[in-house]
Amino acid sequence: MAATVQETINLLLESYSMELETVMNYLANSVNLDGVRAEEIKKSLGADVPGEIAHAQQLANRIKQLGGHVPGSKALTIGNQIQPVTDTTDVVGVIKSVIAAEETACAQYKKIIKAVEGEDYVTQDLCIRLLADEEEHLVQFKGFLKEYSK
Ligand SMILES: [Fe+2]
Ligand SMILES: [Fe+2]
Repeated sequence: MAATVQETINLLLESYSMELETVMNYLANSVNLDGVRAEEIKKSLGADVPGEIAHAQQLANRIKQLGGHVPGSKALTIGNQIQPVTDTTDVVGVIKSVIAAEETACAQYKKIIKAVEGEDYVTQDLCIRLLADEEEHLVQFKGFLKEYSK
């Protein structure tokens, strides 16, 4: 049985929190890292920040369309992701944290895609598009990991 509208809203709110947490951690890592090897990763993460904000905006719009309420910071569940590295030359640590965040985001979008099957095709379409973006990030950072862990 497909998810109810309220269940769908709750699933979208989880993704919304995750996207905003991603923004915070990518932003921090894009600034904190030091060294020549870090430059490309910093540039890539900095460029991802507006993209992840756009994901949160699209989720917020869908939550509103379904009759939900977009909460403020107090109601968000954050602090679940790997925190920005304290060793500012630990580029591999950052890459691994990005891979973990993207894998979790992909898993949540897949969960929503399945949950709304046969019922809410607009939410499903949105989550398929967001999943495509996150899979692209994932492939990119898995590629970085290959090179940087040599
Ligand atoms: Fe995202
Ligand atoms: Fe992403």
